[in-house]
Amino acid sequence: MPNPDDKLLLKAVRREAVPRRPLWIMRQAGRYLPEYRELRKKHSFKALAGEPELAAEVTLMPLARFPLDAAIVFADIMSPMPSLGVEFDFDPGPVVANPIRDAAAVARLRSPARAEIAPEVIAALELTRAALPKTTALLGFCGAPWTLAAYLVEGKGAKDFPTLRAFAAAQPELLDALLARLTSVMGEYLLAQAAAGADAVQIFDSWAGLLSRASWERLIRPHLTALLTTVGRAGVPRILFLQNAPHLMEAYASLPAEVLGVDWRIDLPELALRHPDRAVQGNLEPAILTAGADATRAAARALLADTPARGHIVNLGHGILPETPLASVEALVEAVHLEAL
Ligand code: CP3
Repeated sequence: MPNPDDKLLLKAVRREAVPRRPLWIMRQAGRYLPEYRELRKKHSFKALAGEPELAAEVTLMPLARFPLDAAIVFADIMSPMPSLGVEFDFDPGPVVANPIRDAAAVARLRSPARAEIAPEVIAALELTRAALPKTTALLGFCGAPWTLAAYLVEGKGAKDFPTLRAFAAAQPELLDALLARLTSVMGEYLLAQAAAGADAVQIFDSWAGLLSRASWERLIRPHLTALLTTVGRAGVPRILFLQNAPHLMEAYASLPAEVLGVDWRIDLPELALRHPDRAVQGNLEPAILTAGADATRAAARALLADTPARGHIVNLGHGILPETPLASVEALVEAVHLEAL
């Protein structure tokens, strides 16, 4: 008997047959939505993400407009940082008050108890789960240790993160200690999110591509493996997202995650064929949506035609751009819903 509570997204994660492919959009609760921009006039991003009722309201905004198959909790990869004792603000990306560049700064990082890690995000997940239809998946997330370290060491977003790369080259043991601390806190955080109702979690490694494969193997692999193993042992489905790192695709594909989330630089049909045991997520180029509904429809249809349906979660290759017309999102939804499987 089909279970009416079955979530399309989880069926795709398990590579089961689906009546149609599931769809969600990275940064779906963001500035392309007029109702989000309206609310942002009254509250800073930090205030919105810091107040569970408001965060849950924003999380649900895109679902009121579009029949998406997942909600992703409205928070930021930096949300757990206060629990480690790291002060930061947004301008518009994260800006860290005291960048971490020496042993004393790493030693000063706190080791929070699970309940101390972004409790406002956990509360927002609980509120969202209670309001969501049972058939809609709720996603939790965190930043990958390396992508978090990028902001902590560089102090802010920067083209190619030169301070971070110099730090990684000059002080690999210190980077290792920093990544180990982040890995342990993110493991606790994701388990708390699952306990609060997240059906699956996405680990965002947005700045994965900065290192060579050899450096990645030495510096990053052990930590990502540890984080994914902690989450997998608890039975929580894992979506691993990498960005701008085609040279690391095979390395990421060898890690324990049910779903490989990739940007538009990766040939998704080829990835799916090469890894028949994995689900794949992605990977429309977000800029195509800014070109309008017709361009979006054509690109979406091509993606669906080329990528095997089983185990495919439709998404963009990176976050939706603020200037995206709503009609483009409608065209994407329609292309996915009208596909005959
Ligand atoms: O996807 C979602 O809808 C959930 C919410 C979410 C946000 N940030 C909200 C946000 C998620 C999953 C993130 C993850 C995030 N944050 C990543 C990984 C994904 C990626 O985009 O690569 C990174 C690198 C960050 C760091 C960050 N936070 C940046 C670079 C910025 C500024 C630039 C931007 O895209 O706006 C932020 C701020 C931020 N995080 C906003 C939102 C909605 C914009 C806030 C605003 O001004 O209203």
